Amino acid sequence: MVVEIRRARVADAEDYATIRLEALRVAPDAFGSVYEDVAKFPLNRFEEQLRNGCYFLAYDDDGVIGTSSYAQYSSNRRRHAGLYGMFVTPHWQGQGVAAELVNAVRQRARLGGYRELYLSVNPAMARAVAFYEREGFRDTGEREPMRRDSSVSLMTMKAHV
Ligand SMILES: CC(C)(COP(=O)(O)OP(=O)(O)OC[C@H]1O[C@@H](n2cnc3c(N)ncnc32)[C@H](O)[C@@H]1OP(=O)(O)O)[C@@H](O)C(=O)NCCC(=O)NCCS
Repeated sequence: MVVEIRRARVADAEDYATIRLEALRVAPDAFGSVYEDVAKFPLNRFEEQLRNGCYFLAYDDDGVIGTSSYAQYSSNRRRHAGLYGMFVTPHWQGQGVAAELVNAVRQRARLGGYRELYLSVNPAMARAVAFYEREGFRDTGEREPMRRDSSVSLMTMKAHV
């Protein structure tokens, strides 16, 4: 079966909402947002996210199976490129889809002139951490509290793009 990765357009808002809600439902500890809140968003809220941000979607023949996103942000007056919102539906995990989703973000970061890509991960998500390490990400030693649950200390990792 062929998997296609592409940047989400505003017209893909329903697909983005579908995979985002699945992510929050099946992996609640991985994300700062909560399923019950995001499930209440009207479609135009997802459309707005797609209009203003850079999201990638993975599809198989039956529909959407994964997502990743790219963002630029500033801290300590330095601009960074970041990888966010990684999720692959359980049926498709372990088959290289996640690596393709990271590649899409890496490419975007290169286009933006960045040499490094940052992410934050809950260290309890052992599979995600193992995946990121295999993708070349390393712990920077920085920690920040998860906003919705400050008892969770998020680990910052970075990789060359
Ligand atoms: C994170 C995610 C996108 C990675 O995609 P994936 O297809 O599962 O990744 P892969 O299978 O290619 O890699 C996972 C690695 O973890 C290993 N692994 C599997 N279960 C594990 C566990 N419980 N503990 C540690 N490592 C584990 C796998 O063996 C594999 O390593 P290997 O290829 O060297 O054997 C996916 O697991 C996912 O959507 N998880 C839920 C959401 C999430 O955690 N997102 C991250 C938010 S920061």
